[in-house]
Amino acid sequence: MFANEDALTLDEGYVIHTYGRYPVEFVSGDGAVLVDAAGNEYLDFLAGIGCACLGHAHPALVAALQDQATKVWQVSNYYHEENRGEYARLLSELLSKTTDELGHITGSTGTTWKTFFANSGAEANEGAFKLARRWGEKHLDGASGILTARKSFHGRTLATLAATGQDVFHKSFRPLPAGFDAVELNDIDALVAALDEPSDATGRVCAVMLECIQGEGGVWPADLDYLRAVRAACSERNILLVVDEVQTGVFRTGAPFSFQRAGIEPDVVSVAKGIAGGFPTGGVAARAEVADLLVPGDHGSTFGGNPLAVACGRACLETLVVEDMGEHVIAAGEHLARRLVALPHVTEVRGAGLMRGAQLDVPVANELVEKGLERAGNGTRGLVLNHIGDSILRFLPPLVVSDEQIDEMCEALEEMLA
Ligand SMILES: Cc1ncc(COP(=O)(O)O)c(C=O)c1O
Repeated sequence: MFANEDALTLDEGYVIHTYGRYPVEFVSGDGAVLVDAAGNEYLDFLAGIGCACLGHAHPALVAALQDQATKVWQVSNYYHEENRGEYARLLSELLSKTTDELGHITGSTGTTWKTFFANSGAEANEGAFKLARRWGEKHLDGASGILTARKSFHGRTLATLAATGQDVFHKSFRPLPAGFDAVELNDIDALVAALDEPSDATGRVCAVMLECIQGEGGVWPADLDYLRAVRAACSERNILLVVDEVQTGVFRTGAPFSFQRAGIEPDVVSVAKGIAGGFPTGGVAARAEVADLLVPGDHGSTFGGNPLAVACGRACLETLVVEDMGEHVIAAGEHLARRLVALPHVTEVRGAGLMRGAQLDVPVANELVEKGLERAGNGTRGLVLNHIGDSILRFLPPLVVSDEQIDEMCEALEEMLA
């Protein structure tokens, strides 16, 4: 584990400490391998928190970014630009896929999705809230409540914090925007009760917002039957179903989008992280009927959908499709789960595709992350791992990770757990 002294000192002196950073500085990468400032290699099982879906320095993304960098970077949303429309069309195509429960593509719903481009997941969700409230104004007599799930995570802006069903993120930052409340995930009776007898916190509800697998909360999947029941409950009441696919989207769980595994179609979907392979991009997509409720002047972003982002985004989606990434993720994900469940102290492996959580029966997850980094040196590769709390390891490798790399990581983890 190595970082230049300058990097540590400058960070200490001049950067706000909202993260407890590890003393390692990554300077380059290739696929699922990262390299630190001293030249040590690491196997990356975090991918910049699920963003570098094609791995580091993928030639298609490098070429797209370099080509665009020599042309134009920023013109604003007042003008048309290359790639923006095609990127949105590709997203629409992927959002309209149907899959089986493992994520194998089976067809298409034929639905057209329209996207507003933002720069992050939190901003994507802010756009989703505005769409939901406009829907409430037009179709539900001004209902404005947004119901989410406990243990959810939707971002760090004030409204996305309000939507996040974890009190630990709220403290010190109240008052949060009104109109949000959370119910237990996978309890359809609780959700239906909250729609029919809304709490003071939400008032009448215009939208339900869920992650199909809660990532930051600890890799907790929504049951597929629960998702179907939520879809039905929303449809019966003309309430929007918003799915936050920021972490689960673009083949992370095998399917193009994780809601497809339940055979449902949401009304609004927020995306970010992997949709441009690691270039900062987000978006909120909606079925045309909902999307068309926003008109010029209602929403905006200076940088959203800028030429660099949409060039990378288009190249990323095209490459994921050409490389048939979903099929690779389903197979690699099963391999990863099989290997993880066989490790000592692992009591359960949750998640789907290459979004997995390993529950430990000992509170050593944070220590394992440190030990993984410390392995680097003398020809041994370090590991970039991630923990949630004391006893959950979360795995979000680049989607291009190989079975051999999964084996190498699991063998090292076995040694560290012994
Ligand atoms: C499900 C989900 N939604 C929203 C966000 C916020 O995304 P960002 O950090 O890009 O604002 C995250 C980030 O981890 C997330 O996992």
